[in-house]
Amino acid sequence: MSPKESLLGRFANRSAVVGIIGLGYVGLPLTLRFIEQQFRVIGFDIDTERVSLLNHGESPIRHIPAASIEAAVKHGFVATSEFSRAKEVDVLIVCVPTPLNKHREPDLSHVRASVRSIVPHLRAGQAISLESTSYPGTTEEELLPLIEEHGFKAGRDVFLIFSPECEDPGNEHYSTRTIPKVVGGITPDCLAVGKAIYGAIIDVIVPVGSTRTAELVKLLENIHRAINIGLVNEMKIIADRMGIDIFEVVKAAATKPFGFVPYYPGPGLGGHCIPIDPFYLTWKAHQYGVHTRFIELAGEINRAMPLWVMQRIADALNMAGKPVKGSRVLILGVAYKKNIDDIRESPSIELIRLLQERGSTVIYADPYVPAVNAPDQYPGLSMRARVCDAKTLATQDCVVIATDHDAFDYELIRNRASLIVDTRGRYELVAGRIVRG
Ligand SMILES: NC(=O)c1ccc[n+]([C@@H]2O[C@H](COP(=O)([O-])OP(=O)(O)OC[C@H]3O[C@@H](n4cnc5c(N)ncnc54)[C@H](O)[C@@H]3O)[C@@H](O)[C@H]2O)c1
Repeated sequence: MSPKESLLGRFANRSAVVGIIGLGYVGLPLTLRFIEQQFRVIGFDIDTERVSLLNHGESPIRHIPAASIEAAVKHGFVATSEFSRAKEVDVLIVCVPTPLNKHREPDLSHVRASVRSIVPHLRAGQAISLESTSYPGTTEEELLPLIEEHGFKAGRDVFLIFSPECEDPGNEHYSTRTIPKVVGGITPDCLAVGKAIYGAIIDVIVPVGSTRTAELVKLLENIHRAINIGLVNEMKIIADRMGIDIFEVVKAAATKPFGFVPYYPGPGLGGHCIPIDPFYLTWKAHQYGVHTRFIELAGEINRAMPLWVMQRIADALNMAGKPVKGSRVLILGVAYKKNIDDIRESPSIELIRLLQERGSTVIYADPYVPAVNAPDQYPGLSMRARVCDAKTLATQDCVVIATDHDAFDYELIRNRASLIVDTRGRYELVAGRIVRG
């Protein structure tokens, strides 16, 4: 039997062993989905603390219940930092971070490091699938040479795939199983293996002609969002000058049953994807002599949002006869979006910094983020969450709704805060003490 047929058979009869590299927001839900479908999974991560936590049946991510991890461990799931165990698995799925470096260029160091740690242990008949978001050409230009260096031929003895991750943490309507999965292979046989792997756990597979296509699909999707958010943020500034409520405008426009997709403004972009991924394409497009003007423009507008909100806070305080310096400001929500615990690239943190630079005393409340203490991401910032209760609200000069978690008591906030800057359109009536930000 050929390596390809053997792999197809093992995924069809669930005897395949799956290796997930990078046990974070993407890798963990994927792990749980394979386990749900009766596969044995070995998880690889360089973070030894996370590995130990998982092996004890605990969850490092709020929206993934510890009970699911505990059940996975009972089902034979193990997490490890021993990359030599890569030889035990049939497929290695790479879900490691792809950030930007300080020059806002792609930083593929995690992808390269993770693949370098597994290639010495590769054997014929295995598949590797990259899920980390990156520019078109990454799988071919970065992964393929590393595999060929070890004497393997893609599509013959090792199968190389790119399948972008489309996880939406906190989304109650779609799960790993129900989000269609785009799959591209280096060769037609790689694609066939990719379809078998993901077809075993996901309802709808969307095969595309190459790994480069699959890579660009993911970027298009993120760029589409970044640009539309940039557009609506610019519309917010215009509407504000005109004394029109942008949230009312978007909601009314969205009643059109076709041709309009609602995007809502906010205090800026956050998370690992939207503020970062578009610039992977910008960087690559430069190699082709193409300038990505839409991406740059949206980036410029979105990045300026925290400063615009800062100005709105200053104006609101001014109207109340208070200077920014010395004022007490409560930021509600530091996660980058509602109902999750992820603070990566969060515009709330930028707002905290801007307020502190101007002499405000800033506190925050967020039921999902007990502390902000991430020296790698936010050097010099160390804060603990406060409870958003009547007492706290009463002591503040201004309350800023930066992330509108459903868990906040908005009635209490409306009744007790002396001044509210609402960046999320949570309150419909904006008058007097409540202003848009
Ligand atoms: N979070 C999302 O909602 C989301 C959605 C779509 C796509 N993505 C993409 O998926 C990829 C992973 O993102 P994430 O949010 O899961 O990241 P994450 O930071 O939550 O998890 C990544 C994990 O990889 C581990 N890691 C880092 N380097 C490693 C290495 N060399 N070997 C093994 N493990 C290593 C880290 O310790 C961490 O546990 C990124 O490319 C991201 O753009 C994320």
